[in-house]
Amino acid sequence: MSQQGASRAFSRIKGFADLFPPESEAFSRMESCGRDIFSRYGFAELRTPLLEFTGLFQRSIGAETDVVQKEMYTFADRKGRSVTLRPEATAGVMRACIESGLADARSGAHRFFTMGPMFRYERPQKGRMRQFHQINCECLGTESPFADAELIAMLWRFLQALGIADLTLKLNSLGCAACRPAYMAALRDYLTRLDADALCEDCRRRVQSNPLRVLDCKQPGCRALTEGAPRLLDHNCPDCRRHFDTVLELLARENITPDIDHRLVRGLDYYCRTTFEVVSGRIGAQTAVAGGGRYDGLTAQLGGPDAPGVGFACGMERLALLLPARAPVAPDFFIVAPDETARAQAFALAEALRGLGLGGELEYGGGSFKSLMRKAAKSGARFCCIIGPDESAAGRVSIRSMQSGEQVTLPQADAPARLAALVAASPTTPNHNG
Ligand code: HAM
Repeated sequence: MSQQGASRAFSRIKGFADLFPPESEAFSRMESCGRDIFSRYGFAELRTPLLEFTGLFQRSIGAETDVVQKEMYTFADRKGRSVTLRPEATAGVMRACIESGLADARSGAHRFFTMGPMFRYERPQKGRMRQFHQINCECLGTESPFADAELIAMLWRFLQALGIADLTLKLNSLGCAACRPAYMAALRDYLTRLDADALCEDCRRRVQSNPLRVLDCKQPGCRALTEGAPRLLDHNCPDCRRHFDTVLELLARENITPDIDHRLVRGLDYYCRTTFEVVSGRIGAQTAVAGGGRYDGLTAQLGGPDAPGVGFACGMERLALLLPARAPVAPDFFIVAPDETARAQAFALAEALRGLGLGGELEYGGGSFKSLMRKAAKSGARFCCIIGPDESAAGRVSIRSMQSGEQVTLPQADAPARLAALVAASPTTPNHNG
């Protein structure tokens, strides 16, 4: 019988993860840090659907790319239309902007961030999932190199705010519709003169279908063979060169000094001019934590007005691998109340405490006083509220500091305000039991 048989519990689909704490908390931390920083640059949130018509991705990402050829979750809906779970966010954001009239040149620049799951049927490994999460930013409606530089500076500030160190920013320019065809001809000419048998199977195919990708092949043999390949920057037209130099200059003013990487071509077809990646040597084979670039012409390619744009996406699973660990915050209280009457009083006390902004739990079960106190200690709470049989009968509660062991007994009605004052007066300690 299959995995879904009656007697077997269900399991996750390969490449899809459940995110428990602390990973889920690391994800929330990245999201709120992103919201804070991106809003300072004028970015607002856009949530687009996870499912789009397949043609959108074929037309934007490119029919010859690995993503479209091998990695999309594509299926027919109930009316037989081909739909795809989004493998990235840019295409959907462009579709949404075109559909709502924001890609019109007269409407100025629009800045959106998108956070959420993406789907690519890749071979899962450390830092590579089939459902993964991106934090994605797009600035649409301007071809100014200031937008490229500002976006990269924003990404850099975001990564620094997360406390992620030892990252390298790689930069290149893919040229534009005016200068890229001559470059492509020179590259193809160079590649076809190479000993084809010395190239890997993928690259042999790419020489014709997608020659740029031969440059970023990771196989040592292919890399050695393409060492002398023509370089994009040497073929940039004066406008592209000026654009690139301005981006570099603006970044240098902010002490951001990228490595120029002549092999950086990106795996999606919509890029032109500025392309960049942020890589880390600390997360295994999948080194890219963020990637992006300019995509002038994409909206026109999707049937909308011609609106230039630039953007990036970070991979949250990969950022999570690099995020400095943070001890969970200790709960303020833990309430023990061994018998039923006391527990109803404890329930009311817990609600009153939460109403004052404190956080903690109430133990529902009974047991010996000793075992309940062990649970209180295990919870890592800063204060334990004890409603034993005597306290319960007298309408009182004992509040014990778990750090100093000091204890006060007082009427239950006075406890919320007193505990709030105690919490405010005592320094917060990380929860080492978490
Ligand atoms: P991308 O380079 O395909 O670009 O993906 C961006 C980031 O998503 C990667 O650097 C990586 O951190 C993460 N990522 C990609 N695939 C996986 C995976 N299977 N598992 C875990 N993480 C992954 C884009 O998606 C473009 N849409 C970026 C962009 C936005 N360009 C302009 N605007």
